[in-house]
Amino acid sequence: MATASKYSKKAVKPLAVVTGVTGYIGARTAEAQLEAGVFVRGTSRDISTSRVRALIEHFGKRFPGKFEVIQVPDITVPGAFDDVVKDATCIAHLAGPILSALSDGPEPTIHVAVNGTLQILESAHKEDSVENFVYMSSARAIRPHYADKGRTYTESDWNEEAEGYVEFWGAQARGTVVYAASKVAAERALWKFCDERDPRFSVTAINPGHDIFTCAGPDNVQKILVFLDFRDFVDVRDVACLVVFASKPYNRHEVDRKRFVAAPHHCPLRAIARILAYYYPSIMDFAKSPFAGSRREVDRTYTKRNAFKSNESVRLSEEGYIPWEKTLVDTVEAMRSFLQRNQHHV
Ligand SMILES: NC(=O)c1ccc[n+]([C@@H]2O[C@H](COP(=O)([O-])OP(=O)(O)OC[C@H]3O[C@@H](n4cnc5c(N)ncnc54)[C@H](OP(=O)(O)O)[C@@H]3O)[C@@H](O)[C@H]2O)c1
Repeated sequence: MATASKYSKKAVKPLAVVTGVTGYIGARTAEAQLEAGVFVRGTSRDISTSRVRALIEHFGKRFPGKFEVIQVPDITVPGAFDDVVKDATCIAHLAGPILSALSDGPEPTIHVAVNGTLQILESAHKEDSVENFVYMSSARAIRPHYADKGRTYTESDWNEEAEGYVEFWGAQARGTVVYAASKVAAERALWKFCDERDPRFSVTAINPGHDIFTCAGPDNVQKILVFLDFRDFVDVRDVACLVVFASKPYNRHEVDRKRFVAAPHHCPLRAIARILAYYYPSIMDFAKSPFAGSRREVDRTYTKRNAFKSNESVRLSEEGYIPWEKTLVDTVEAMRSFLQRNQHHV
């Protein structure tokens, strides 16, 4: 007589697919999953790159036999992910254009964001082992570019203006709005898929502000510098933790069919300069700069109101978000060691 085992086939080997694993958030997400004891199968458009080799070497040493990368040259092709999701228990879909959206224009950017998401959902839908799916959306899918200054945005808001703006301006549309439109379109496609196909796995969207911390290479340094021009931040380590939380089957009731804003820190450039002047009085002669200041002045930089409410996502993390000053100082330290390793003067 057949007996039901409490250990299903899928429980034997938790396996996370992380698309865009070479990326800024992707590598951190893979690391967090590996640290949680989960095998990771990343994807990249080209597995012959030095970035892929570096990741395999790095994770191979720390987590032998638990990390691999599969090549998916075009994520929009039907069936592109069929082999990738085989035996996977959880999927984090992160691959997609960010900085290239600034130059590529609307059509290719939106095409990849929407169809890449739909293709991996289709593949997941055919694979019985999949228990949960996390889509990395963005706070840009929530708050419009020209937002109401006095308003606080939450999970129930949508950036209603980006797609119309892109339709109006076409190829002349600003890259940042093209990016926002691609995230709105892809996340809407995700929820439409859920409504129409009712997948048995849980589905969660995470909507981070601008991720910061860490730098494994020049691309990430460039990204941090671009993002410092924004205002609403989250530590990328917190975002990776949210993915891990949403990937645990026993958290399904907390995360299924929900979106989570993750933009807990609001910090204008002036305030960043003030914090850095406080922590690094000797570097860059901040002491003589107009930003040099006391602890009280640093604390005053926190009185600015955050444009986002991240209460739902903070509830998911056991210890709350990493304090902003720690993120900032850790980022500076990571940049210094990167520059030192690469023999720049610091
Ligand atoms: N960074 C942030 O602050 C932030 C904030 C909110 C939301 N997000 C979202 O989080 C996800 C990851 O962001 P990230 O900062 O880690 O980006 P990233 O560093 O640019 O990594 C994304 C990865 O996606 C792959 N990719 C890029 N363009 C692609 C394309 N046209 N087709 C298929 N794959 C492509 C690339 O991997 P290969 O070259 O190896 O294929 C790249 O490493 C994105 O969906 C982004 O929209 C990021």
